[in-house]
Amino acid sequence: MLTISLHSLSKTMKFGQFLGANALPGDVITLAGDLGAGKTTLTQAIGQGLAVPPNCYITSPTFSLLHEYPGRLPLYHMDLYRLGDDEIYELGLEDYIYGQGVTVIEWPDRLAEIMPDNRLHIELILKSETDRVVQITAHGLNKKRIKHLNNWQEQP
Ligand SMILES: Nc1ncnc2c1ncn2[C@@H]1O[C@H](COP(=O)(O)OP(=O)(O)OP(=O)(O)O)[C@@H](O)[C@H]1O
Ligand SMILES: [Mg+2]
Repeated sequence: MLTISLHSLSKTMKFGQFLGANALPGDVITLAGDLGAGKTTLTQAIGQGLAVPPNCYITSPTFSLLHEYPGRLPLYHMDLYRLGDDEIYELGLEDYIYGQGVTVIEWPDRLAEIMPDNRLHIELILKSETDRVVQITAHGLNKKRIKHLNNWQEQP
């Protein structure tokens, strides 16, 4: 597990941009953390790193469950907070998860059995109004992928 302190919103944005810039086709990033921890904010930064055009503003797909954005790779943003038990199989979420874009999932525990084996899991912990800590675990991925994330501050 890799632990990174993000002492301000701008640090979170920089970290997320690095994640997006280094994402590969088919990557899945699951984001856990309390309400307001910064999951959607981090997704917006990942979108910037994926070169999602600024006029495609990333908002939480709370009711639609899924938003898709164009970028260097397509970004599929899921927020499963309101996902009903029966809906898991009806929505065809696996088509996105196993597609060639980058899938970012808020409230991933709702996926239950369809949780993919290969993913970067990020737990966001709210320390204060502006302070966050992220704990990153690489499930089924080359450990170099997670080690590389230590370089997030070296980006211009
Ligand atoms: N260091 C930081 N990192 C991330 N967000 C921060 C930070 N400091 C302050 N914030 C603020 O915290 C809020 C996080 O809200 P956000 O909607 O991203 O949370 P969320 O985890 O997606 O919540 P929800 O579970 O309701 O979807 C934003 O208003 C953001 O500007
Ligand atoms: Mg959110």
